[in-house]
Amino acid sequence: MDLFKVYPLYNVKPVKAKGVYVYDENNTKYLDLYGGHGVISIGHSHKKYVARLSAQLKKIGFYSNSVQNPLQVELAQKLGSLSGCENYQLFLCNSGAEANENALKLASFKTGKSRVIAFNNSFHGRTSAAVAVTDNPFINAPINRQQKVTFLPLNNSDLVTDELKKGDVAAVIIEGIQGVGGLDEGTTAFFIELEKACQKRGVFLILDEVQSGYGRSGEFFAFQHHHIKPDIITTAKGMGNGFPIGGVLISNKIEPKFGMLGTTFGGNHLACTAAISVLEIMESENLIAHVNEVSNYFLKQIKPISQIKKVKGKGLMLGLEFDFEVAELRKKLIMEKHIFTGGSNNKKLLRILPPLSITKNQINKFVIALKTLLDE
Ligand SMILES: Cc1ncc(COP(=O)(O)O)c(C=O)c1O
Repeated sequence: MDLFKVYPLYNVKPVKAKGVYVYDENNTKYLDLYGGHGVISIGHSHKKYVARLSAQLKKIGFYSNSVQNPLQVELAQKLGSLSGCENYQLFLCNSGAEANENALKLASFKTGKSRVIAFNNSFHGRTSAAVAVTDNPFINAPINRQQKVTFLPLNNSDLVTDELKKGDVAAVIIEGIQGVGGLDEGTTAFFIELEKACQKRGVFLILDEVQSGYGRSGEFFAFQHHHIKPDIITTAKGMGNGFPIGGVLISNKIEPKFGMLGTTFGGNHLACTAAISVLEIMESENLIAHVNEVSNYFLKQIKPISQIKKVKGKGLMLGLEFDFEVAELRKKLIMEKHIFTGGSNNKKLLRILPPLSITKNQINKFVIALKTLLDE
């Protein structure tokens, strides 16, 4: 059987990984400033994580959600206390798109409405409602275009208020920091206005923290830079360090009702173990403080590079904007310097999403390689 081709592929075959490095079949070592698309939080194949997952697999990997699973309770409590979001309830699923799909569904169930406000250049996933609120007509099929979605520019709260006044909106969905779109983000004033407008009109404010969450921005969730309280928060990528898991954090004000949400695989024993282990390691290694320290260092090191016209994002979710398209530079970084970086909808932007455990020394390696290529 052939594979269904969904992405153009670089000619690299990773076979093992450790910390911030990935190794191909010839044992060539690649510095991972992409984290497999912002997924690797605590570092590849962390010893404690591997040991914990292996031990859990020997006990029980999966059983259905019709019986008690104390690992889910342990995860919810740990996530609540580490993120400062104790006053939320947790629904577990398997991916970022699924988290957003369930968040939107819940908002629609609870408000009885169906229109959603999303933002220009957003990315929320590829399932039905999640792709409909994604601002990319090329990945929306006719079946997805039936959903009622209004896209607005970021940072214009008057336009949001005007739409909410119409009375048919179930939810506003926004990324903490835009990922695929290219690292643009709402200002603090905008997030505060959004929160106020949603509260006033009984509309659910959904914060998509699938990419910007789990310490990546230098706070547990990126919206915490703005001191707001969303109704629903969605998470995925960094949550399992590569083990598929997603979460929907639902405000305590929202009452659950059987039948609204459900899942076969979500919150299984292995996934919960991976997510608990990630949180334990984030805590014991003080990873959020580390993100802030190395992010400042990174910014200082790249400041003298005149070809970088703008730096976007926060923490270890950064975009370096040039005045030329970066596809060739990314290719050279991988093939000649053995460094993975990311791209985005903004073709002039190099996306930096390393494991949160990256060191200053590893950042130096990237900066030297980048300067060499830019000066060629
Ligand atoms: C902000 C955001 N939301 C949702 C998703 C979708 O997540 P997944 O690919 O796990 O479905 C992504 C993936 O890149 C994302 O960046």
